[in-house]
Amino acid sequence: MTKERRRLLLAAVATLAIVVPLAWLWQASRMPGEYSVMEMGYADYGGGPTSAGHDMGHLHGDGTGEMSVADLVDHSTAPPDVVVDLVARQGRFTLASGQSVDGFTLNGSSPGPTIEVRQGQLLEVHLRNDDVDEGITLHWHGVDVPNAEDGVAGVTQDAVLPGEDYTYRFVAGDPGTYWYHSHQVSHEQVRGGLLGALVVLPRGGAESEDVTALVHTYGGTQTLNGEEQPVRVPATPGQTVRVRAIDTDNTPLRVWASAPYRVVAVDARDVHGPTEVEGKALTVAAGGRADLEVTAPEDGSAVTVQLGASSLVVGPRDADAPPPPPEPADEVDLLSYGSPAPLGFDPDHADRRFDYSIGRRPGFVQGKPGIWWTINGHMWPNVPMFMVADGDVVRMTIDNHSGTLHPMHLHGHHAVVLSRNGVAATGSPWWFDSLNVKNGERYEIAFVADNPGIWLDHCHNLQHAADGLVAHLMYVGVTTPYRIGGHAANHPE
Ligand code: C2O
Ligand code: CU
Repeated sequence: MTKERRRLLLAAVATLAIVVPLAWLWQASRMPGEYSVMEMGYADYGGGPTSAGHDMGHLHGDGTGEMSVADLVDHSTAPPDVVVDLVARQGRFTLASGQSVDGFTLNGSSPGPTIEVRQGQLLEVHLRNDDVDEGITLHWHGVDVPNAEDGVAGVTQDAVLPGEDYTYRFVAGDPGTYWYHSHQVSHEQVRGGLLGALVVLPRGGAESEDVTALVHTYGGTQTLNGEEQPVRVPATPGQTVRVRAIDTDNTPLRVWASAPYRVVAVDARDVHGPTEVEGKALTVAAGGRADLEVTAPEDGSAVTVQLGASSLVVGPRDADAPPPPPEPADEVDLLSYGSPAPLGFDPDHADRRFDYSIGRRPGFVQGKPGIWWTINGHMWPNVPMFMVADGDVVRMTIDNHSGTLHPMHLHGHHAVVLSRNGVAATGSPWWFDSLNVKNGERYEIAFVADNPGIWLDHCHNLQHAADGLVAHLMYVGVTTPYRIGGHAANHPE
């Protein structure tokens, strides 16, 4: 071999040594145009059994050992107590200031109508897609619905295409503040306004004056209930008002007030023994909610509740609005806020233990090079499928070393925070469905797997989700007939 030939051969070998693994990585990052979420990633049983054993009997009772998400519905045949019709459209609409937004409306507006039901009532929502090309769904964020009602395109249903209708039906469980939004191409449709508030009132109706404060940013403009101007809430001196803050954006929302307030609920779960807060702000995770209780001063003045850049003024109609209170640097820490109460289960006797460790590294997702999120070291679609059985007590450690904060959202369940960075929770049980996990933080959480189905467990910065920060919680024996892609072009993220 001449020197020249040897040089060429070496160059060829060196090139292959780079190209072959890259090609392999590229190939492994791609999912076919149509696939089932059940084929994604690898099963992680968290140290528990790999089959549901005798437990499956009561889940379906037909002895096949399998249950379709499509059958996980509310079986009551009763007529609904509340019926809501929603029509979705795509196009331009204007904010009060005249700013034009290219997005989506429900019944002609964004946010869509606030849906109000009482605990125990059967809600039926008729969704019609008038002209949203990509199709739509509705997900009931924070509501632990039966799986078939969860509204995730390609996992629990097909996207509702233009001209089509779809009916959601579920009994309202725990009272509290929720919201609904599309879970088809959600990173675009939620940003564009395909969303609204859902309030479940206690059985006996509202206990105090009650106001929904839904924050959404349209084309760079933050709004409160769709308004850019301060929202006035009439209240007589001494009257207590419950402000239901909802963060529908991709980033956390800080809330505070010009007078002392109490945090009475987080993510639709009451705080036990909430104390008065002064000079501190509360951070609501993207997708999360917090109910603040404020009292209109006895002297006839008003209180301003500040939600990021938006204000809500509570007081007599003729009271001057106090200037927006300066933003406190201090934080209400839910790890120690309120007083302890029983959890109703024992997290020390867990049936499964999972890690949800979020990182970031260069690689390929769907054949595209980039610096992508990883879950337990794996990049989408090769991420863990967290496998559980009905009745399991589950512990999970969520840690974030990705350089950015992630608001983590588990569908269909509420979990409780046990510790943060090794410091045990000492306040009220901190139940959540949306948890703000900052870079460098490590949360230990626990929940009871009591709602069979296939459930997303993803980042609610929806761009991050679209970039692959999505895993699933799957009950052993549950299957889905729906497919990502396919004839309905399902794209949940
Ligand atoms: Cu607010 Cu997976 O959703
Ligand atoms: Cu994220």
